[in-house]
Amino acid sequence: MCGIIGYVGEREALCVLLGGLRRLEYRGYDSAGVALQEKGRIVVVRKVGKIGVLEQELAGKTFTSRCGIGHTRWATHGVPADHNAHPHTDCRKTLALVHNGIIENYRALRERLLAEGHRFLSETDSEVVAHLLEGDGSPLERILRTLPLLEGSYALCILFAEEPGVLYGVRQFSPLILGIGDGEYFLASDVPAFLEYTRKAVFLEDGEIVRVSKDGWEVFHRTGEKCSKTVFTVPWDPVSAERGGFKHFMLKEIHEQPRVFEDTIAGRVNLARGEVEFEELEDFPLDFSRVVAVACGTACHAGMLGKLYLEDFVHVPVDVEYASEFRYRDPLLDEKTLVLAISQSGETADTLRAVELAKQKGARILAVCNVLGSSLTRLADWTVYTRAGIEIGVASTKAFLAQMTVLLLFGLFWGKRKGTLPPGTMESLLEEMPTLPRKMRTLLSREEDIHVLAREFYLFKDFLYLGRGLYYPLALEGALKLKEISYIHAEGLAAGEMKHGPIALIEPDVASFVLVGQGERRLKVLGNIEEIKARRGKVIALCDEGDGEVRGKADYVVEIPKTLEVFSPLLAIVPLQLFAYYVALEKGCDVDQPRNLAKSVTVE
Ligand code: M6R
Repeated sequence: MCGIIGYVGEREALCVLLGGLRRLEYRGYDSAGVALQEKGRIVVVRKVGKIGVLEQELAGKTFTSRCGIGHTRWATHGVPADHNAHPHTDCRKTLALVHNGIIENYRALRERLLAEGHRFLSETDSEVVAHLLEGDGSPLERILRTLPLLEGSYALCILFAEEPGVLYGVRQFSPLILGIGDGEYFLASDVPAFLEYTRKAVFLEDGEIVRVSKDGWEVFHRTGEKCSKTVFTVPWDPVSAERGGFKHFMLKEIHEQPRVFEDTIAGRVNLARGEVEFEELEDFPLDFSRVVAVACGTACHAGMLGKLYLEDFVHVPVDVEYASEFRYRDPLLDEKTLVLAISQSGETADTLRAVELAKQKGARILAVCNVLGSSLTRLADWTVYTRAGIEIGVASTKAFLAQMTVLLLFGLFWGKRKGTLPPGTMESLLEEMPTLPRKMRTLLSREEDIHVLAREFYLFKDFLYLGRGLYYPLALEGALKLKEISYIHAEGLAAGEMKHGPIALIEPDVASFVLVGQGERRLKVLGNIEEIKARRGKVIALCDEGDGEVRGKADYVVEIPKTLEVFSPLLAIVPLQLFAYYVALEKGCDVDQPRNLAKSVTVE
């Protein structure tokens, strides 16, 4: 949830750290700080507020250090305040550290340290680690001695005054990646922090410690033994971590969706053979009797859509669960259960814990994930990557599109092999599929219409998003997008449930975004529009192009190009995302860094 960056090399460390923090700010942004090894001592500067506040504090100060650590925080223990910001130091400032995660037993450790005479400057759990690291022995020995005392999750990056030009990193249930440049090294909680300098990376495993100096790096297990590691090349382009002329990352990422769709199907859809292929799934058994999708937030909405695809194409029962609920139950799973874990980051704590539980119970895991080498991919039996590229906007957009795409393809892949795909389905879907990027671009070209619509609605206080069938998960997703970036109360509902309660909410100042699908559900949803209008509620209807009947009933209409029903969510999501974006913009909200949120929820 917080962002960590460490640097050692020939450049001015402060400049690298601030650049890295800017790129990590999406992980947390209530305070930030840096620690530098400056002429034999450790200098710490930390401020509550966004990185800009820290930069102002540093302006005019000169630092020459080539080695340092930085942190951007999303508060868990201790309110956002200067003294709770990282880095933290020990009493004598012999070391400084930044931490991502939660030290669960920090109260007991703190009591013990207080009794021993340690003086604390913050209310954080992280500071106890700095105090525990004091004492005799080399820095590595002190780290090895301290780790067994810690319970919980942590990625740590540590500087010791006595070892100039050396950084230590430790990983336990919270990501930490070593970036390998030419005579320079980076430690970061996330690749974008150093992507500008290198694409070569080593992913630390839980229980590993890395020691880095400008002369090289070595990794140790927490037992003290050295480990050999593989260096990966991250397939991301540094430009993808920039806004590229767009006002916000979210808007840029919405616009990237036609390309994301093309990338996600590339090499997986064989038009000539009329097949969907996944080289990652060569040994995938076809005889699972049941699927349980576990995920959080937007990824869970993708899972709900995946359920509909899989049940249709594969005839396998699918349950969808919030990972945060699933992990605290005693779920019924066995080796015939496939657990489908969906996550953009691959680092969401609840999803990881749900997967660990499922593994203990004998289930096999298929991850649908966007981040190479993330924790989820290392737990899974199979991983299908969504090729969305780096997603920086806190509100997930292009990753959702890629998740929906992968789940649709996976349904086709499995259904074809199992023989459950209705005849002609593959052919008609593969014929239509190449038209989707063009149709998405058409929707994006109508962006200004959505902006105009957003100006009509940005002062509303309540929104209902209604949909049936494939549009029900989209209704949930549309509502989530609106509430997380514009702070407007929004509820996603199965339109058929309206009469069972929510219709009581309808009045003239409640807006309903009604998603009108195709087939037999269309008429039912038209009935829902009538019911809302009869109670003088305002209706925006999303429907297929040329649906004159909807135009006659709703106050405002958003049309999507005609496509096969199974693909309609991939198009409908674009105006829903744009609407949330422009409402937030009109309200003056901070779109890329919405209040109280951070990109990846790596703590519980
Ligand atoms: O990285 P993950 O896909 O596991 O993240 C899951 C949710 O935290 C995430 O989708 C969240 O709901 C987004 N802010 C939604 O826009």
